[in-house]
Amino acid sequence: MTLDFTAWATAHQVSFEKVLHDVLPSSSISPGHLHKAMRYAVLDGGKRVRPLLAFAAGEMLGADQARVNISAAAVELIHAYSLVHDDMPCMDDDVLRRGKPTCHVQYDEATALLVGDSLQTLAFQLLSEFKLNDDPQQQLNMIKLLAQASGSRGMAGGQAIDLLSTGKQLSLPELENMHIHKTGALIRAAVLLGAQCAAVTPVQLAKLDHFGKCIGLAFQVVDDVLDAEADTATLGKTAGKDADNDKPTYVTLLGVSAARDMAHNLHSEAVASLVEFGVAARRLRELANFIVLRAF
Ligand code: IPE
Ligand code: IPE
Ligand code: MG
Ligand code: MG
Ligand code: MG
Repeated sequence: MTLDFTAWATAHQVSFEKVLHDVLPSSSISPGHLHKAMRYAVLDGGKRVRPLLAFAAGEMLGADQARVNISAAAVELIHAYSLVHDDMPCMDDDVLRRGKPTCHVQYDEATALLVGDSLQTLAFQLLSEFKLNDDPQQQLNMIKLLAQASGSRGMAGGQAIDLLSTGKQLSLPELENMHIHKTGALIRAAVLLGAQCAAVTPVQLAKLDHFGKCIGLAFQVVDDVLDAEADTATLGKTAGKDADNDKPTYVTLLGVSAARDMAHNLHSEAVASLVEFGVAARRLRELANFIVLRAF
């Protein structure tokens, strides 16, 4: 029997929680305070969209699940670190994340800084400690991929552009560039890292790369729309924060309706690049639908 999307996603979310639980250092190990704060920032919250993308790509290509677990964990640790830093007073200055006080509110700023540092390095420890592909060169490529997606030419660079753009009006290409980096890069990496746990061909990888690029940008367009349209309780983070912080977004540039149209166009482009995978790409298609239609 084939599971429907919700059942498939829930089963992965539950088993992945245990993976994260196991890869994070125990709070009984010194420094317990830092480990407790790392666990607070990662466990028990979030949609786990990036890990689900890795699982969907990996399953489609017949990857070993234990290997995908590690790749997915590495991406989610980088993502959780990016959220901890994004919420700090020097960045978006937010007090609520995943329905709980943000890390620097629950602990303190110095701890939040170190939580981010430690989650980031743990991600790379995982990618280098566990065997993820029979070909060691492929595994090195995976480590490089996540490093590039996370650093100044990826997520961190996008965050830098975001901070520099606060209070400014950006053109559409400038906004797209910011979103592709700050959010798209890691989502793209999630798809590719899941795929690279299997024997994937360069042609398949190029198709998945395009899928990840489109759906990664769509993800942030929808995040902008939800910031303007949804409420705090549903989001588990402060609604209306972009307007409060005077951020340029797809909503400020295009309005809600045109931003939603844009997300739908990106969705069409994303799923078009899955055609050659046929029915095997079902979960990736379902995730693309979720990303564009989600309410939180
Ligand atoms: C929020 O990401 C930050 C962005 C990159 C838009 P998510 O919406 O995936 O947050 P969680 O992981 O579900 O909390
Ligand atoms: C965050 O974008 C992107 C990251 C790299 C964390 P946002 O600032 O819009 O994310 P939220 O809305 O706070 O989750
Ligand atoms: Mg931000
Ligand atoms: Mg933010
Ligand atoms: Mg946002």
